[in-house]
Amino acid sequence: MSKKILVVAGDGIGPEIVAEAMKVLQALQADGSIDVSIEDALIGGAAYDAAGDPLPAETLEAAKASDAVLLGAVGGPKWEPLHISKRPEKGLLGLRAGLGLFANLRPAILYPQLADASTLKPEVVAGLDIMIVRELTGGIYFGQPRGIETLPSGERKGVNTLVYTESEVDRICRVAFDIAMKRGKKVCSVDKANVLECTEMWREVAVKAVADYPEIELSHMYVDNAAMQLVRAPKQFDVMVTTNMFGDILSDCAAMLTGSIGMLPSASLNADGQGMYEPIHGSAPDIAGRGVANPLATILSVAMMLRYSLDAPAAAERIEKAVSQVLDQGLRTADIMSEGMRQVGTAEMGDAVVAA
Ligand code: NAI
Ligand code: MG
Repeated sequence: MSKKILVVAGDGIGPEIVAEAMKVLQALQADGSIDVSIEDALIGGAAYDAAGDPLPAETLEAAKASDAVLLGAVGGPKWEPLHISKRPEKGLLGLRAGLGLFANLRPAILYPQLADASTLKPEVVAGLDIMIVRELTGGIYFGQPRGIETLPSGERKGVNTLVYTESEVDRICRVAFDIAMKRGKKVCSVDKANVLECTEMWREVAVKAVADYPEIELSHMYVDNAAMQLVRAPKQFDVMVTTNMFGDILSDCAAMLTGSIGMLPSASLNADGQGMYEPIHGSAPDIAGRGVANPLATILSVAMMLRYSLDAPAAAERIEKAVSQVLDQGLRTADIMSEGMRQVGTAEMGDAVVAA
């Protein structure tokens, strides 16, 4: 049956990189590898300019009716003066909440061809391939009570609360275990169980859930040690699963081990396997409109979409192999350029992936 994809390109380089991802989708469609119908809709600053709302109701409805959403990026200096409720980021947050996307998958992959892009020694990071599974709709970013209150003394008190229910922990752990089953079958659950009771419970729930996955090797690590280990010896990890805040921090750290923001895709999934797929970078207003942005993170986001929401793992693998092949050919956008390689623009890179 034909699957539905909603494309929301957004702002800045969003439309440029999404155009290249569309070429890849269309090529797979043309040769019969996938059967999809593709619609597009407005989001972010572009939606605010056209409709006065960064997440028009039609966009949210269309997203709910689709199997997967492909997002470019939102935001830019033009919309910074707006009130927070009208800012482009609101469009992104509204989609996450509206679709109930509780599982954020952030791979950190360093293609061997780009090992010198990292600030770490090539032998520490070359061939790095880890997946961080971050809980996205709970934890301290959403827990109640929260806020800033003024005490009778006049001093202010700031409060945020770390909250997880057992079912929230169970479902995110199972997402991590399912993913690990298709990879190295190793999961490291990251917590602060020595200090925070909430994450002591997290650890217990993870142990209980893994009983249903006899092949998974589950380990536990305190978050401070996990940060250290990510920088010291990142290749020890296969899949990491953790809370919203710890995952926010660790996934950015892991991404930067690879040194190339233009190369990293991401996925956010809900309980029905519906997902939103996007590069981890933003709208890059500093290079927008010049045709120089790296489209590979968005193209690799399409591969994740095919794997996790559209049940087309073979097509996903073809995209990933094609990306590796264009790197082998020495093609580089400016952000990953190094000596002896051939610098290409956004469209040329997209065309090369299609050809490969
Ligand atoms: P950014 O990720 O847009 O850019 C950071 C740096 O990386 C810039 O120098 C940019 O030119 C470069 N870069 C990013 N993507 C690239 C690509 N594909 N190819 C080559 N170079 C690339 O982050 P920044 O500058 O902090 O934010 C810019 C705007 O994007 C802001 O309005 C911010 O709110 C928004 N943003 C949106 C996100 C999203 O839509 N998911 C995520 C992060 C930021
Ligand atoms: Mg972050």
